[in-house]
Amino acid sequence: MPEPKRLEPQPLCASDELKERGDAVTFDILEFGRSAQAFALRFNGGAVAYVNRCAHVPAEMDWQPGQFWDQERRFIICSVHGALYEPPSGHCVMGPCRGARLHAIELKEEGGQVHWYPSDRIQPPL
Ligand code: FES
Repeated sequence: MPEPKRLEPQPLCASDELKERGDAVTFDILEFGRSAQAFALRFNGGAVAYVNRCAHVPAEMDWQPGQFWDQERRFIICSVHGALYEPPSGHCVMGPCRGARLHAIELKEEGGQVHWYPSDRIQPPL
């Protein structure tokens, strides 16, 4: 019998660790049962999280760990070929994968804590 999926919210970080347009908080996940990385950022007050995998080539996007912003801190940038993603939607607005999007992970922010929600696709590490 397959292991039951764990869908309860997972602790990620304290709210104040996600500074406005600051460095990302990265976290480990299983995507379809395989190890992967995800990241969370704050943009215009809201916290968002995505799987750290470019929509162009399946590569991690940060040029240094946790560094996902372009120079103006307006877009999430892929360090490999420079695709630019809208932070609130993960939608690629410029670059070789224009029109594609990052895979979002749902977050909940409450009482000064940020949690992320597993899904059928994304699970916490074992
Ligand atoms: S791998 Fe990200 S733009 Fe090519």
